Amino acid sequence: MREILSQLENDRQRHFDELCDLLRIPSVSTDPKHKGEVQRCAQAVAARLERAGIRSEIHPTEGHPVVYGEWLEAQGKPTVLVYGHYDVQPPDPVELWTSPPFEPTVRAGQLYARGAADDKGQFFIHIAAAEAHLKTRGRLPLNLKFLLEGEEEIGSAHLEPFVQAHQKKLAADVVMVSDTPFFARGLPTICTGLRGLAYLELHMTGADRDLHSGTYGGAVRNPAEELARLIAQLKDDQGRILIPGFYDDVRPLSPREREEYARLPFDEAAYAADLGVEALHGENGYTTLERTSARPTLEVNGLLSGWTGEGSKTVLPSRAMAKISMRLVADQDPAQIAKLFTEHVSSLVPRGARLEVLNLHGGRPFLADSGHPAVQAAARALEQAFGKRPVFSREGGTIPIAASFRQHLGLNSIFMGIGVPDENLHAPDEHLDLENFYGGIRAAALFLQEYAG
Ligand code: BES
Ligand code: MN
Ligand code: MN
Repeated sequence: MREILSQLENDRQRHFDELCDLLRIPSVSTDPKHKGEVQRCAQAVAARLERAGIRSEIHPTEGHPVVYGEWLEAQGKPTVLVYGHYDVQPPDPVELWTSPPFEPTVRAGQLYARGAADDKGQFFIHIAAAEAHLKTRGRLPLNLKFLLEGEEEIGSAHLEPFVQAHQKKLAADVVMVSDTPFFARGLPTICTGLRGLAYLELHMTGADRDLHSGTYGGAVRNPAEELARLIAQLKDDQGRILIPGFYDDVRPLSPREREEYARLPFDEAAYAADLGVEALHGENGYTTLERTSARPTLEVNGLLSGWTGEGSKTVLPSRAMAKISMRLVADQDPAQIAKLFTEHVSSLVPRGARLEVLNLHGGRPFLADSGHPAVQAAARALEQAFGKRPVFSREGGTIPIAASFRQHLGLNSIFMGIGVPDENLHAPDEHLDLENFYGGIRAAALFLQEYAG
């Protein structure tokens, strides 16, 4: 491996430049105006795979394209399927970025750009690692497939049928995903679980048009108030969600799991101070780490009604809207939770108001099989690359396709992410620590060797 690692040292500047090329493409999947840019990014990713020596294909879908790549010349050796996403979240609010979101900029060893951590800088490590093997040895120690999608940030709706339709093409021994952060700076981490998601939108309507609040105020239901009242009934003051049946399929934490959580280096006071809050708040009886990764939640993501511009306008609004997401844990099913939610909120609507419920999208939770041999290989690779033994922890975010890999391909996923905890995912000033990037490439190269055995 020495030769490969020194090759990687020599290639640092080139890897940096190539990552920046990808980061300059605004592949915002949710925005129809960016469709062409998403397409362009798919082409750039496929071209990058080809240059690394990996045969690649672009598969159009009804949404954004799927990029597939393969190198399958290691007969009798295992096959790893690398999954990642080349789409990014919108950069808004753009004015809060210190440097423009699609002009990658380095400050204090951090690379700032939309997609630096989520997920371009992370899937890139596997391309660079494979390339280094191919360049120095002319071959890989095992078979490698790449599946890089353009719709993760909008729920992977078209990847699911793609996976179902291409079971043979995607057959492998394990899925490798780099799309999660380290537990703490300098502390390599293997993520062992992700939460699922159910995301719905509520529209409450009162009168069929906006009304003068003087002329009509007092005569009809105010949809803004009714929606606020409804939302306030969804959780009690202990932080328990009050939707009947919501917790039925939640796997309780075992005493051992709780001990493992307690062993992680976590400082609640520093966490609260960093967030600028005087006190933390969540479900009674659980620690912050448990609340944010092993317990389900319900959160208002957006709320809108009436006059919200500058100054005042005396109006009794006709409509109010809320976006509500629920993070789910094993074994909750997003379709079932969306159904329970819809039934419950519908039952809370008083006469004189109407409620429309839209189910936006969802994703199933995922708990990894930590006993898989590839997990040990990843742990050894991270330890050699970063000089520190990795910790294992669960994350609160969602990668919707992981459950589908298990369901349709029978595959376990390993999450060997290289982000940093304060990376500003989905927010202004998203960044990736460059030492994590270069270390991640080393870890990815070492993993191929370690897992090939
Ligand atoms: N990379 C994240 C998932 C993630 C976030 C893992 C934080 C671990 C920690 C992924 O790109 C993401 O943002 N997923 C969305 C999924 C949704 C849009 C279906 C999420 O979690 O909100
Ligand atoms: Mn991601
Ligand atoms: Mn994301």
